Amino acid sequence: MAKKLLLLIPLLLVIAGIAFAVPANITKVNNGGLMDKKVLVAYFSWSGNTKSIAEKIHKRVGGDIFSIEPVTPYEGDYNEVTYGIAREQVTKGIHPGITNTDISSYDVIFVGTPVWWYKMTPPVATFLAENNFEGKIVVPFVTHGGGGGYSIDKDMAQLAKGANVLSSFVVYGKGNFSTDKELAEWLNGLEF
Ligand SMILES: Cc1cc2nc3c(=O)[nH]c(=O)nc-3n(C[C@H](O)[C@H](O)[C@H](O)COP(=O)(O)O)c2cc1C
Repeated sequence: MAKKLLLLIPLLLVIAGIAFAVPANITKVNNGGLMDKKVLVAYFSWSGNTKSIAEKIHKRVGGDIFSIEPVTPYEGDYNEVTYGIAREQVTKGIHPGITNTDISSYDVIFVGTPVWWYKMTPPVATFLAENNFEGKIVVPFVTHGGGGGYSIDKDMAQLAKGANVLSSFVVYGKGNFSTDKELAEWLNGLEF
């Protein structure tokens, strides 16, 4: 009997190994409107929060994901960037150069930005202003440090000429324990 049990142990270990090797099941978005649409998740993130939300969205909607990169990165510590180049660009409405982006093949573009000085970040403003959004669907998502999303969704609609801009997902920082559930509800409720 003891011998049989000893033989069983390796088998049980293999079964347990297989069970743990299967990645956690990510709930794909249950939104028929996304079927047959080419989807892009595009975001800018300076300290990682918006990137984290972008990746969660991407896991659920599929398609492609890329980070909107300014030609000149924002270098320096929080205070230097916040009270220096960031404030200057936002308040003057400067659209800094970004590395090339081609959105022509996408139907639905999720656009993510942190709030900077009550507005979307300058590289995201460039991305929206310089691409042709005619006939495309834009879905904003915004991370903030306590002030909320302000009017960033409306500002995005003004810049992304010709786009149908859907309701935004707004979250504090990189979210908390209820963010996954809220994200799923938001995604399932969008009308594409
Ligand atoms: C330059 C700068 C300006 C900011 N301005 C605001 C603001 O006006 N309102 C707010 O709620 N949070 C503000 N924040 C906080 C960020 O929006 C928040 O931390 C965000 O989640 C950062 O996203 P990221 O990690 O993707 O860069 C600001 C942060 C920086 C760096």
